[in-house]
Amino acid sequence: MALLEVSGLVVHYGKALALDGVEMRIEAGELVAVLGPNGAGKSTLLKAISRALPASAGRLVFREKAIDALAVHEVVAAGIGHCPEGRHLFSDLSVRKNLLLGAYLRGDKAAIAADLEHVFALFPVLRERQHQLAATLSGGEQQMVAIGRALMGRPALLLLDEPSVGIAPRLKEVLFDAIRQIQTAGTAILLVEQDASVAFRVASRIYLLEHGRIVREGRSADLAGDDDVRQIYLGI
Ligand SMILES: Nc1ncnc2c1ncn2[C@@H]1O[C@H](COP(=O)(O)OP(=O)(O)OP(=O)(O)O)[C@@H](O)[C@H]1O
Ligand SMILES: [Mg+2]
Repeated sequence: MALLEVSGLVVHYGKALALDGVEMRIEAGELVAVLGPNGAGKSTLLKAISRALPASAGRLVFREKAIDALAVHEVVAAGIGHCPEGRHLFSDLSVRKNLLLGAYLRGDKAAIAADLEHVFALFPVLRERQHQLAATLSGGEQQMVAIGRALMGRPALLLLDEPSVGIAPRLKEVLFDAIRQIQTAGTAILLVEQDASVAFRVASRIYLLEHGRIVREGRSADLAGDDDVRQIYLGI
């Protein structure tokens, strides 16, 4: 069985339909990307998986257990980390405190310290800046904090919503190197990414989401060879 199985997922905002029967699965350790135009429902999908938004219908099964009825903190404890669009850091707290907030459900002090070291090894600039206020960091560095904070919950699945938006090209490279390292270390990743060429490069499988529906799914290499997909998503 897959790590995460999403079936028939329907989400509304009031009367407006945002997700219309989404089917998706993610295997342990896999890096999967979701691509789609603005307003397609990508962020809604991640929020529904992390239970930040209620679903009107459908099933979410993670590690063979239904998570449909869990509260947000229970989903974190179950092993899903959500790095939301726009980062949502506490700007008047230090980098270190922001990172430690990601471990707020844990009591294992020694392991938390080890995980903080792991985040600093992944993003050395955060070690240097750990005592600075989060607000003083660049956009790319703030994104590193947001990812690091999610890692502090020890997720088996990390949900990343547009991590590279508004980030300088050099930091984007650093960020995606780190994302690959996180995957190599065994964490599955569900990545929403505006830059389709990056998504095709890093993900092994891709889902195309339009108007709240999955319209295509396949291995990156296969989809990248499809003329329609190339034209619409890669512009080539
Ligand atoms: N809080 C909200 N209340 C009402 N409608 C919403 C809300 N959030 C999103 N929507 C609507 O739901 C649909 C899906 O939005 P969502 O943010 O999931 O899209 P997205 O694919 O992440 O877009 P983007 O690429 O711009 O981030 C859109 O039509 C959007 O206008
Ligand atoms: Mg979005």
